[in-house]
Amino acid sequence: MDHLFLEKYGSWAIVTGASSGIGVEFAQQLASKGMNLVLIARRKPMLENLARQLTESFKIECKVIEADLGKDSFQFDILDATKNLEIGLLVNNAGMNCEGHFYRGNLERNLQMIQLNVKAAYILAYEFGKRFLENGKGGIIFTSSISAFNANPYLSHYAATKAYILSLAESMNYEFKDKNVDVLALCPGMTKSEMTRGMKDGPMLMEVAPVVKEALDNLGKKSYVVPGFINKAQVFLSTRLLNRNGAKNLSGAMLKRMLPGVKKKKKKDE
Ligand SMILES: NC(=O)c1ccc[n+]([C@@H]2O[C@H](COP(=O)([O-])OP(=O)(O)OC[C@H]3O[C@@H](n4cnc5c(N)ncnc54)[C@H](OP(=O)(O)O)[C@@H]3O)[C@@H](O)[C@H]2O)c1
Repeated sequence: MDHLFLEKYGSWAIVTGASSGIGVEFAQQLASKGMNLVLIARRKPMLENLARQLTESFKIECKVIEADLGKDSFQFDILDATKNLEIGLLVNNAGMNCEGHFYRGNLERNLQMIQLNVKAAYILAYEFGKRFLENGKGGIIFTSSISAFNANPYLSHYAATKAYILSLAESMNYEFKDKNVDVLALCPGMTKSEMTRGMKDGPMLMEVAPVVKEALDNLGKKSYVVPGFINKAQVFLSTRLLNRNGAKNLSGAMLKRMLPGVKKKKKKDE
């Protein structure tokens, strides 16, 4: 139980994308602090399993909301289901990616990514941010990405959605800080989750636990956080040592080597 945390952010938190990966870990670490949880994603059975496990282990309350944040007007069910709960923390974490050449994934999938990574995160921050300002306390964590700091060829559209999130979170952090509402962008590098399933294990691929811990430890202290030494070094290199063009070229060269399919396809195109 973390009494200071509960005093600051109230007794209920919302976690989107709570059915796997970083979202599950957010739910676990918040539950260990004694927070009741609203768990949101599309796969209800996974949310229900997690809710059962957390309720038993931490003696907290959980509410499961099955919602597709990629659909228009998704927010009304969530607002209705949470109107009588003292929500004090929003973890805007659900997201999807589409990596590879610019035309990888059809237009519909790429527009879906804007709807989920950008529009849904904005709508929830707008709605719950209003409540937090009225209450005079609260917190919002956005899961952005290390790819938000510079242009990323072969990850172009995903990185652009995450750059939006980082910029939004930093500006909200400034505007809300005098009103006792903390806003933070978590900018992970590669992290073990469904999104990175199949990637080779190695020092670049972080476990979810330290990623989430760094976010929760820095909420109220920083406007963004980059977990892990290697990721921090990468951001230092791309934002302090290189200009934007250099950072773009370095990212392009690295991603071309790392992403399955990119190099092979390039050769075919040539
Ligand atoms: N893993 C990484 O290397 C990495 C790095 C940087 C940033 N991130 C970001 O971290 C966040 C969490 O991703 P993750 O790595 O934990 O990946 P993940 O394991 O694939 O989790 C993604 C979560 O988002 C939910 N989601 C996807 N589409 C949704 C929709 N239309 N409506 C509602 N929920 C939806 C998924 O639940 P359902 O499928 O059940 O709906 C799942 O719970 C994302 O924003 C991602 O961009 C990840």
